[in-house]
Amino acid sequence: MLTPHLQRSPDGELLCENVRLTDVARQFGTPAYVYSRATIVDNFRAYQRAFAASKPLICYAVKANSTLSVLALLAAEGAGFDIVSAGELQRVIAAGGEAGKVIFSGVAKRHDEIALALAHNIFCFNIESEAELHRVNEVAQAHGKRARITFRINPDVDAKTHPYISTGLKSNKFGVAHADAVRLYTLAASMPGIEVHGIECHIGSQITELSPYVDALRRLLSLVDDLSARGIHLQHLDIGGGRAINYQGESLVPMDEFAHAVEREIAGRHLDLLIEPGRSIVGDAGLLLTRVEFLKPGETKNFALVDAAMNDLIRPTLYDAFHPVAPVLERTGEAVLYDIVGPVCESGDWLAKARQLVLSQGDLLAVLCAGAYGMTMASNYNTRSRPCEVLIDRDEAHLIRERERFEDLIAHERIVI
Ligand code: LLP
Repeated sequence: MLTPHLQRSPDGELLCENVRLTDVARQFGTPAYVYSRATIVDNFRAYQRAFAASKPLICYAVKANSTLSVLALLAAEGAGFDIVSAGELQRVIAAGGEAGKVIFSGVAKRHDEIALALAHNIFCFNIESEAELHRVNEVAQAHGKRARITFRINPDVDAKTHPYISTGLKSNKFGVAHADAVRLYTLAASMPGIEVHGIECHIGSQITELSPYVDALRRLLSLVDDLSARGIHLQHLDIGGGRAINYQGESLVPMDEFAHAVEREIAGRHLDLLIEPGRSIVGDAGLLLTRVEFLKPGETKNFALVDAAMNDLIRPTLYDAFHPVAPVLERTGEAVLYDIVGPVCESGDWLAKARQLVLSQGDLLAVLCAGAYGMTMASNYNTRSRPCEVLIDRDEAHLIRERERFEDLIAHERIVI
């Protein structure tokens, strides 16, 4: 199995659950994001199983994949949601998610976003600065409400991940400094529009090691004790997201070990646990299906020019990220080293480099582990329509988002000369 619920048929064809990807391409065209429903559900339930003792509220990080069907599926599984904008809140509500299980993260929440979240009675705001605390207090008072809050603490630990997705160091823009926390909690506790409720940290994404989590957690728990000694008693602890997935044979900490390490740290405390996983719920559940338009032998390199591009999946060029690439139909013949590149007019438009493949023009390729931060980071650069999305459920393929049409792309423009 290449990723869960993705396998080869005896005749060498790639299947997502029980559906042939050649049929998906024929029915819906390419490029297309294809998701396995069973994998998303299994990944979510793996958290529930591993954390059965502490029963955390699992707030799925909407930014990883915010397609309505994905949110609706997770809502039906009992998920809460971690949002970072009014738009994400509206998506959660449109998908049938419960606002009472929503936490609002992000460093620069606008007045209107705070007001909307208060109107929906979300569970909690994760506050990232003193200025933001004042703003949430003001908006809450203006609406006759009290906003439940945590402070996102920057624990100053190195998550040992890519610098763009590492967030728990002093040099990052995120959270409030550990050293400021007691002063800020004391201030917050005195505010009429604020109900101090918990403490949060999120130290980064695609974290393969356990120790940064444990270090951050210990830093948080020492604050919980300091605050308690000052009469500020917190009710929940939110350890953020960030668990890695296997893109390239990374050795991952097993989920049970992760859960037990967290539960050991919080044992005996009356703190409800929250977690905010994104990538580890949807990442390996999705692939980007693309067709080879041309093969272009170069003087120093061979290129496979495909119909997906950096606008569809920006992770390779933005983070130098590795995504496995599998041919949908296995051919026999001599493998050639290819860079898989798209039609966009940039040398940075690549999806994979130096892959040994046997290819012909017209072949289908599956770019794997693309379910997280794929479609949500897609753009219309080069006036390219974003891909359609297909959810596979056992024997059936459901179109859950149509491919954009040209009319969609120009719908909000006015010609003024
Ligand atoms: N909570 C907060 C406050 C976050 O900022 C994030 C991700 C998460 C939870 C979820 O983290 P996860 O479990 O997915 O690692 N675009 C990048 C990833 C950016 C992550 C941003 N924050 C990528 O494609 O690798």
